[in-house]
Formats: sequence, C-alpha cells, structure tokens
Amino acid sequence: MTKKSLSNRSRRVSASDDLEVSAYLEIAKEKSGQHSSTSTSDHIHHEAIIIIDFGSQYSKLIARRIRETNVYCEIVSPDQNWESVSHLNPRGVILSGGPASVYDQDAPMAPTWVYDQRLPVLGICYGMQVMVHQLGGKVIPTTKREYGHAVLHHGGSSQLLFADLPSSIPVWMSHGDRISDSPPGFYPIAHTENSPIAAIADGNNMIGIQFHPEVVHTPDGKTIIDNFVHEICACGRFWTPANFVSDAVKDIKDKVEDGKVICALSGGVDSAVAASLVHEAVGDQLTCIFVNNGLMRKEEPERILKTFEDHLKVNLVYADATDQFLSALKGVIDPEEKRKVIGQEFIRVFEREAEALGKVDYLTQGTLYPDVIESKTDDNKISATIKTHHNVGGIPKDMKLTLLEPLRHLFKDEVREVGLELGLAEEMVYRQPFPGPGLAIRVMGEVLPEKLEVLREADWIVMDEIKNNNLYNQVWQSFAVLTDTRTVGVTGDHRTYGYVIAIRAVTSEEAMTADWARIPYEILARISNRIANEVLGVNRVVFDITSKPPGTIEWE
Ligand code: XMP
Repeated sequence: MTKKSLSNRSRRVSASDDLEVSAYLEIAKEKSGQHSSTSTSDHIHHEAIIIIDFGSQYSKLIARRIRETNVYCEIVSPDQNWESVSHLNPRGVILSGGPASVYDQDAPMAPTWVYDQRLPVLGICYGMQVMVHQLGGKVIPTTKREYGHAVLHHGGSSQLLFADLPSSIPVWMSHGDRISDSPPGFYPIAHTENSPIAAIADGNNMIGIQFHPEVVHTPDGKTIIDNFVHEICACGRFWTPANFVSDAVKDIKDKVEDGKVICALSGGVDSAVAASLVHEAVGDQLTCIFVNNGLMRKEEPERILKTFEDHLKVNLVYADATDQFLSALKGVIDPEEKRKVIGQEFIRVFEREAEALGKVDYLTQGTLYPDVIESKTDDNKISATIKTHHNVGGIPKDMKLTLLEPLRHLFKDEVREVGLELGLAEEMVYRQPFPGPGLAIRVMGEVLPEKLEVLREADWIVMDEIKNNNLYNQVWQSFAVLTDTRTVGVTGDHRTYGYVIAIRAVTSEEAMTADWARIPYEILARISNRIANEVLGVNRVVFDITSKPPGTIEWE
C-alpha cells in the first residue's frame, strides 16, 4: 500500500503504518458491517477531521497540515449543522483561530454539535477561547498582545498531544485575550512566560492550545497536529495520491458513463492533471482543447503541444487564435478590461471548437480547494475584488454542460503529487504558475505585438538564468514585466531612449501572500546585463522588491 502523503513527501513514516492501517480497516469494517472485499480507496473519504473556520488567515494552513498526515479534512463555517458534516464521518474537530474576541457582539461560537458529539476537539487560539467561554471558563483581555515566539513548557508525553516532544518547545503566539480560569473539568497542561494557561485539557480528548501549531514558526507543530489526528482521533492514513487517483477515477466513470467530455488545457499543472484523471477514467470520450491566445511566452505553445503529445495521450484540438485575441485587445489599457476581453474571446474560441465536436455532456475544470473555500467565504463576506481572475475553462454560460471538477478538494501541492502518481512529466507537474491572461497582464498599457516580442525575449533570459542557477523550483514564480516607462540610456557613444524591464521573482505558498525572492546579486547582475545587451529596445532593468501584500504577484 502506498504510504506517501498527498502533500508532504517528508512526513514521518513508521514501520507500524501498515499494521495501523490494516488494524483500522478491521475496526472500520466491524463498525460498518462491511465485507473484506472493500478496497482501501473506498475509504479515502471514510473519515475526516472538520475544521471550524473562525476567520483565521491560517485555517487553510491547518487543513494542509492535516492532509500532510494522510487524513482528509474539510473547512466549514461555524453555522454548519451536524447534518451537513456527518456524512464525512468526522473523527475529530479543530476550532481555528480568528480575529474576534469572545466578548465581541457578533463573536462566532462553535455549534453545539461540536460538544454534543463527544468527538476529540482541538481549539487553537481563538478556538480555545471559544471553548473556554462556551464551557464555563473565563477569558480575559491582556494589556499587551502576545505576538511572536514563545517557549511552551508542558507536562511531557503523558499528554498524547505532546507525545515524542521535549517538555519545552518553541511555539508561535498571536493573541490578545487569554485564559484566566479553565472550564469545569479542564486543567492546565502547559504555560509560557506570558500565558500561565497556554494549553488545557479535560482528560476526555478536549484540548485547547493558545499557540499556532500550523505555522512554520512552531517547528514541532507538524508533530502536534499528527499526534492530535492519529494518536487522539485515531484516524487511519488513507489520504494518499494512489488512493485519491483510484477513488477519483471510479467517481468520474460512474458519473460520465458513456458521455462525451471536453477539457481546456492551459499548459499548467491543474488542467493537465484534471484532464489526465478524466482520461484515465473515460479514455477517448475525452477531447482536450488547447487555445493559443498569442499571449504566451517564447516557444511556449510548441513546447506545451509537444509535452502533451509525449506525455498525455489524449485527443487534442489545437486552436491558434492569436489574431483574434490581439485585435480584440487593441486600444485596451485597463487591466480589468484586458481580463474581460480575454475571457470573452476565450469563450468564443472554446465554443467554436466544442461545437465542431458535436454533442458534448461534460466540461472538466481544474478548480482547486482554495478556490472552493474562497467562493464559500464570499457568500458570507463582502470582499473587495482585487483582480478578476480569468482561468481557462471558464464556463460558457449557455453551453449546458455539466461540470467535472475532480481536483476541487485538493491543494496545489496535492495536485502535483497526483500528477506524479499519474505519471505526468516533472516539467509539467512542477511548472511555475502562469496566469490565464498570459503576457497581456505583464505588458503594461496597450498590448501590441512589438511590445510582446520585447517582453518574450526578456522573459526568456530571466527564465534561462533562473533555471541554469537551479532556482526554478525554489521560487513560486519568476518572470519579466514590460513597464510602460521609457528612460534615457547610453550604448557605446549613442544616447538611447528605451523600455524599462522589471524582474519579478517571489516565494509563496498558494499565492495568497508572497515575498520577493532574494535572488543572489550575481544572478541579477547577469540577467540585467543580458537583457540590456540582447533585447533590442530595452536599456534599463529593475528588480521588484515588493511583497504581497501590499503588492500583488502580477503587476496588473
Ligand atoms: P496576484 O497577481 O493576484 O496573482 O497576486 C496570484 C496568482 O494568480 C496568478 N494569476 C492568475 N491566474 N488567471 C489565472 O489563471 C488570472 O487572471 C490570474 N491573475 C493572476 C498569478 O500568476 C499568481 O500565481
């Protein structure tokens, strides 16, 4: 049985894993009265951890950490009732942190089922305060917000949560309120210098911790989460790439039967993995459409086509719509307008190609879990539109197709693991993200063929140096931007008046936040020299040192 986590290749693997899983399977079978012919993949969604999201910026991180321990989990809002989650067969609940104080007027509370179901509960930060407040303890404001590193002293491994850990460990704190009295039946199990009660337990698998185990600044956080999920909730390790693939393939087969499926390929990993899964399930019933919008990087359409032909043996329709996109973009300067135009043109091309295929029943999209969570959040909150993301595969409104979204429960890292499991080429699986609107949002101002040419050459050099210096997989994205500023320079004895190219390179997890990558000076110098010397029309190169926020990754 494959023991690899969907998203963490370096997780702890113990020799007893197989025993643990088969023992669990026996128990699960006994419980559900199932027969021994039930395959492991049937159990992939057989149990889950539920994360109640109180609005913490770290909720997604908690989910990722749990998935890394090979356990499925879902994030739900505090107003979800038991009926809406019970089908997931929850084995435990995590109450996330959040920005509120339990004394705020509309402070979100845990639904009563969390306590009634007698499942193990781990309250993190605000989640712990909610537990204390609802169960009869006392939460008080502190005069000083505790933020940053702290040392947690706990009672040792007798608490399963801290199994295998030394009795003092570094942790990350970020809270205003703190616990002054534990609820009846609870007792303190850890303290820090500023928080006399930094963790509590009731001896019945209800635990609260004031620190954040999900962030990297709590180095033992992974062990703590692993302990909660496996030692306390007794979950098995079923969430693996192999199990996911067999489960998803079966699911797609059952759904599609003998229907016809289309999928738009962008060259990115999400659509490639989604297509590959569907192909695995229904073979030639799938046709992929690859639209060249004329906004790709140098030699990219050819490279993508070749990779698809070599590694993804699907029916593929190639539509070169360069002229259509470029003429639609004439005179368009506003970034949102560019996105809109590109989105519309894409749908036009896509519809045209799909129509040529005759009757189609399903449209495959590479929607990921963060998109699903975001759109759920949007139902509850009014959030500002920063950018309208245009993704290939946007649904033509009148196309009456049923959506297939086989990746809607996966994080990006998990998609990559699944891609490898399906045998996709590493160059496809580890390709840096590239936006749907392509170079149009990296050419500032009007998108003109000659400007695209300048950017393509500069971007080629950035990529060449990044790859040659083994930085490609270390950064989230690295690319060139053609600014709409021109400056005076000198080449030989001649005055020049040329474009400024900006180099952008960022590190990130999931692109929600990002930091500018500390590319070594020598490499920056080489990139700058090469661009200024090799790219006609450019006489100045700058490096973007803005993180996100306040910037975004792309310039438009
Ligand atoms: P921003 O610029 O919003 O980008 O920080 C976050 C991530 O999303 C990518 N991006 C897009 N991807 N369609 C896409 O498919 C879009 O319209 C789009 N805009 C930005 C960007 O490259 C980064 O990875």
